[in-house]
Amino acid sequence: MAERLYLYPIWLRIWHGINGILIVILIITGLSLQYSSNEYIRIRFDLAVSLHNISGILLSFNYVFFVIGNFVTGNIRFYILEWKGLADRIFKQSLYYISGMFKGESTPFPVNKDRKFNPLQKVSYIISMYVFVPLVIISGLALLFPEFIIHRVLGFSGIQLTALLHSATGFLISVFLIIHIYICTTGKPVSKNFKSMWTGWHE
Ligand code: HEM
Repeated sequence: MAERLYLYPIWLRIWHGINGILIVILIITGLSLQYSSNEYIRIRFDLAVSLHNISGILLSFNYVFFVIGNFVTGNIRFYILEWKGLADRIFKQSLYYISGMFKGESTPFPVNKDRKFNPLQKVSYIISMYVFVPLVIISGLALLFPEFIIHRVLGFSGIQLTALLHSATGFLISVFLIIHIYICTTGKPVSKNFKSMWTGWHE
C-alpha cells in the first residue's frame, strides 16, 4: 500500500485558506477599482476601496505568518531549489503535463516525504510566494502610505510606477491562481489534492 504522508500541517492549511479567500477578494475588488467608471460601477467605489485595503493588510500579516511558519517548522526545505539538472527536470515535468498525463503515464516525480512538490510546482511556488506576493504587498503598502513613495523616478511619477507594479504583480498572481487550481485538479481522482489540503494527508 502507498505511504500516507502528513504534508500539510494545520498552520499551513489555515494560512492557505485565509490567503486564498483574501486573494480572491483582492482580485475582485482590485478589478472593480481598476475598471469602474462613473457610468459603469461594478462594486461601489468606497466599499471596494475599504474591502481592498482591509484584505491587503490582513494578507500582509498572513504572509509574515507563512514565512515565519516555514522557517520554524522546516517546511521551507520543500522550497529549496537544486539548480543542477533543474532545466531537465522542468522539461520532464512539462512533458508530463502536456502529454504523458493524458496518456495515463505515471508522474515523473512522485510525492514522498522529502519531495512534496514536483519541479514545476516548486519553481512556481517560489516565484509566487517569494517574488510576486512580496512585491504586491510592498507596492500595495506604498500606495496606502504614498508619502513614502519617491516623487519622481527617471522623469516618471513614482506613484504611477508603483501603481503599475502593483497591478502588474496582481495580474501575475491571478494568472498563477488559475494555473495553480487547474494543476491541483490533475490528481487522481480530481478531488485528491484538494482533499489533502483539507485534511493535511497526502494519500
Ligand atoms: C483560492 C483557491 C485556491 C485553491 C483551491 C488552492 C488549492 C491548493 C491545493 C489543493 C494545494 C495542495 C496541492 C499542492 O501541494 O500543490 C495547494 C498548495 C499551495 N497553494 Fe494553493 N490554492 C488556492 C489559492 C492559492 C493562492 C492564492 C496561493 C498563493 C498566492 C496559493 C499557494 C499555494 C502554495 C504555496 C501551496 C503549497 C503550500 C505548502 O505545502 O508549502 N494557493 N493549493
